[in-house]
Amino acid sequence: MAISRRGFIRVLGTSAVILGAGGLALTQVDQMPAQAIEGWKGPPPNVRDPRVRALSYALLAPNPHNLQPWIADLREPNAITFILDRTRRLPATDPFSRQITVGCGAFLELLRIGAAEYGYRADIVAFPNGDWPTSAVGDQPICRVAFVPEPNVARDPLLAQVLKRRTNRSPYDATPVTEGEASAIHASMAQFPVQFGWTSEAGELAKLRNIAKRAWDIEINKDATYYESVKVYRITADEILKHRDGLSFHGPFFWSMRALGLFSKEKALSGDTTVRQQSLDFINGQLANTPAFAWIVTETNDRRGQLAAGAAYVRANLKATELGLAMQPLSQALEEYPEMLPMLAEHKRALALPESSTVQMFFRLGRAAPTEPSPRRALDDIIRA
Ligand SMILES: Cc1cc2nc3c(=O)[nH]c(=O)nc-3n(C[C@H](O)[C@H](O)[C@H](O)COP(=O)(O)O)c2cc1C
Repeated sequence: MAISRRGFIRVLGTSAVILGAGGLALTQVDQMPAQAIEGWKGPPPNVRDPRVRALSYALLAPNPHNLQPWIADLREPNAITFILDRTRRLPATDPFSRQITVGCGAFLELLRIGAAEYGYRADIVAFPNGDWPTSAVGDQPICRVAFVPEPNVARDPLLAQVLKRRTNRSPYDATPVTEGEASAIHASMAQFPVQFGWTSEAGELAKLRNIAKRAWDIEINKDATYYESVKVYRITADEILKHRDGLSFHGPFFWSMRALGLFSKEKALSGDTTVRQQSLDFINGQLANTPAFAWIVTETNDRRGQLAAGAAYVRANLKATELGLAMQPLSQALEEYPEMLPMLAEHKRALALPESSTVQMFFRLGRAAPTEPSPRRALDDIIRA
């Protein structure tokens, strides 16, 4: 979120007065609650069930708006039935649950990597009770994963990055991404039926930045799509701890903004234009500081392709982490609601892709200061035992 520099100093000055009166140092205020990010420590040592140990990695998957729409049914021994929590979708921005399914693909890949670490082969059968249609999600499970003991199963070196992976929304520095780095990211997804592209060429960057910005304008200026995001804003540590999902805003700045009534869910939902404008300013800062964009494409847009794209994306994110690179998806121009369709077509043309293909993920790539982990729900919340 952006605010003018003068405005920022004024807000911080006022908060220092408020906090000073309460005897608190500004920097200690409103930190990310440790409990909300405990999942990033990895599997709890007391957990013996390899399925639960693998799930503690899967829970860290990147996923739209961090809604974590996952249910892992463990009632069958040595297997997990993976079900979509249909209460955690984003129908306005993601009307066909394409992005939600992509997030499920990332979850499954981390589950597979986690299972291998404990000497289990994860045999994944997608849609064992029948496929979902492409237009809507069904109530059929996404997949059944059998845990087959195989002591020599190949360990995945990317496991070492799972606890370090982040979505990084900071400005990136101007250092170029190299051909070698992009090739390594591409190679990390070789086992999946997806295409990978990237660019750091100035003219192409400018064109793609412009599309991303206009797409963002469309999303923010349509109430249904904007409010869908606002509803999952978790502003300040108490809300973050209560939900452990959604989009987190915390720290002295946001604490002060909320205390002063300048930034709150209620204010944003009341149609207030300043909060909307802050969102637009925020994306402009990101776009202006992006040395490379990359994308993952499938030939068709069926559910299996979406799962594959999610697996490819999380592998790319893990490989980028290993290389010291930051990533952030920019999904607005990929969204499939009517007002966005012209942008979606323009975006595909800008990437020189055939109309029949689907850009499943489009993301910033570069170097940035480390960012903190995002919250995760307790493992028990997603398990049905
Ligand atoms: C399909 C998909 C679409 C996403 N789109 C966006 C996006 O448009 N903007 C963004 O900042 N993050 C986007 N993300 C990243 C998620 O918001 C992020 O994974 C989530 O908040 C959890 O944070 P983490 O990746 O740091 O664990 C997307 C992730 C997925 C899987």
